Amino acid sequence: MKIAFSDPGMTAAGALVVGVLEGNKLTASAKAVDRKTRGAVKRALKASRFKGQAGRTLTLVAPAGTRLERLLLVGLGKPSGLDDNALQKAGGAVYAALGTSGTRAATVLVDDVDGAALSADAMAVGMAEGAKLRSYRFDRYRTKPDKDDKPTLTALTLRCKGAAKARAAFKVRESVLDGVFLTRDLVTEPPNVLYPETLAKRAQELTKLDVKVEVLGEAQMKKLGMGSLLGVGQGSERESKLVVMQWQGAGKPGQGKDKGKDKDEGPCCFVGKGVTFDTGGISLKQAAGMEDMKYDMGGSGVVIGLIKALAGRKAKVNAVGVVGLVENMPGSNAQRPSDVVTSMSGQTIEVLNTDAEGRLVLADALHYANDRFKPRFIVDLATLTGAIIISLGDQYAGLFSNDDKLSEQLTAAGKKTGETVWRMPLGEAYDKQINSDIADMKNVSDGRGAGSITAAQFLQRFVGKTPWAHLDIAGVTWAKKDLPTAPKGATAFGVRLLDRLVADNCEEK
Ligand code: BES
Ligand code: MN
Ligand code: ZN
Repeated sequence: MKIAFSDPGMTAAGALVVGVLEGNKLTASAKAVDRKTRGAVKRALKASRFKGQAGRTLTLVAPAGTRLERLLLVGLGKPSGLDDNALQKAGGAVYAALGTSGTRAATVLVDDVDGAALSADAMAVGMAEGAKLRSYRFDRYRTKPDKDDKPTLTALTLRCKGAAKARAAFKVRESVLDGVFLTRDLVTEPPNVLYPETLAKRAQELTKLDVKVEVLGEAQMKKLGMGSLLGVGQGSERESKLVVMQWQGAGKPGQGKDKGKDKDEGPCCFVGKGVTFDTGGISLKQAAGMEDMKYDMGGSGVVIGLIKALAGRKAKVNAVGVVGLVENMPGSNAQRPSDVVTSMSGQTIEVLNTDAEGRLVLADALHYANDRFKPRFIVDLATLTGAIIISLGDQYAGLFSNDDKLSEQLTAAGKKTGETVWRMPLGEAYDKQINSDIADMKNVSDGRGAGSITAAQFLQRFVGKTPWAHLDIAGVTWAKKDLPTAPKGATAFGVRLLDRLVADNCEEK
């Protein structure tokens, strides 16, 4: 779908979209359209239960006195609630109403609204972003076009004051959306197509955007002593990989402002769990729902999409992405419950449950990232525990951190983007629960409670004193139903969140 911005005006072909505020208060454009259609808008509002609620829509098909195919009223809610998030939801609702309706082009009239914090151009940008996010589709494996569901809307024009400004702002956001769409593609791909080697190849395509990409294979990882990550992959035919992506948007260390002298000036580092399929290994999962485990590489998908976003919009930051890619299979060489492995950090781990594999992968990826790059902070993302779904469902990612400032920055970025995080506790009493009888630690605690927290405690043992945050995204990576700004399926939760974190806190101004 092509998105364009132009100055205010009424000419439109196909569908025309106007906003209605809560309580059916018409925006300026809605009033104008109501006059042009001799009261059709007000009559329609009276005849329906639509009340201008945020994210709801009402369609009038082929209104008399116009050449329009459709007139769409989109609810904007209260003026005081009209933030970027609300507008994205409204934009998503516009796409949901028109995307497969048969209409090919739509024009949205965006007005200044009394009492709203955003100007019309900023509102238009938010709506455009929401519409684009909702328009995502994965068609790669369809050999027959699905006649009824095939998208028809190919052009969306937003008309507002300050169209040039909106156009420039949206261009930057569109680079971020390219990252989001890449993540969604990767997470949606089936695991016979996407496995460590092929996922690494997809990451290597970022070299086109001047990202430096290195791929380490099993031999190199063995030399580095990554016994924890390698143990997970050893039951699979597929070779495990570790991918390192570097975006140098703030110049090389030792050059310019970024002198790379102290920790504060190290790169921002993002680490992702990339289990391309998680059968559980010898601690085999049950059959029902096992197909969901194709998205167990979600954390790595977000890190790859994020680096694409940062490079695409030429963010003035040095950022590193590290993803540990493995397939967790119950092969004849698979690791056994009770095996002891030695991680790159030197710490030993008793593997009591081969299905608690994500933390084993991250242990080496985190240590490697910390050791090599001396980052100013590390954020890791992982579909790590089923327990976080019990705690938070699909509304928040779990946030675990050793650093209050980083936690606050993530929480703020979450509120702005709608990719919200909820901080969970860490503490010594939880940490003790992963002490092993025969090694430095075990990969599962013996108690049944606090499974997400003890998993995070495990990760914390591999980051030293570096400011670190772990996002458990098991509940938010895959949507079972359509969301306002994502069709059901892969959400790419985390890309926009972390892009905002970087934009607000790490970039040279
Ligand atoms: N990949 C799973 C966690 C998961 C569950 C992600 C549901 C997405 C949806 C992880 O590797 C796992 O199996 N965790 C176990 C840990 C347990 C064995 C301590 C779990 O959550 O049951
Ligand atoms: Mn598992
Ligand atoms: Zn897993």
